[in-house]
Amino acid sequence: MSKQRVSRRQFLSYTLTGVGGFMAAGMLMPMVRFAVDPVLKADEGGDFIATKQKVADITDEPVRVDFTFKQKDAWYESEVTNTAWVYKDDAGKIVALSPTCKHLGCTVNWNTDKEHPGQFFCPCHYGRYEKNGQNIAGTPPLAPLDVYPFKEKDGFLYLGKAKPRKEA
Ligand code: FES
Repeated sequence: MSKQRVSRRQFLSYTLTGVGGFMAAGMLMPMVRFAVDPVLKADEGGDFIATKQKVADITDEPVRVDFTFKQKDAWYESEVTNTAWVYKDDAGKIVALSPTCKHLGCTVNWNTDKEHPGQFFCPCHYGRYEKNGQNIAGTPPLAPLDVYPFKEKDGFLYLGKAKPRKEA
């Protein structure tokens, strides 16, 4: 068995390299984590947000449902309030429509145009939509209102992220 001696110079070299590497890793890790953290975060877009709307109370008359959630944009977190128009269709299925007009993004209201009752109405440029969110030909919007995916939990309505009708 051969004895291998470590010189004082080698010992110092190994020790300093080890300590230096340890310190460098300690400084670099937070920087790397800071740089890639938003990328590693799970996409929260698919989450469902609780609303205060009881599913049992939803009728065939659209009601405005506001719901608030925290939104994280990279490192900036803010509280966002969204709105949906919610009702049950003839088959008793829940319909949750985005109130954002597909023309230029104004907010549509239910049944506020006296000349066209039973429709969603956008006051900005007189855009109109059928109750099911379908845009009415001859008015400015060129697409139907976006649709919220939804689910029921503990009797309350939960809403996801509004999507164009084709994707919903
Ligand atoms: S923004 Fe709604 S009709 Fe123009």
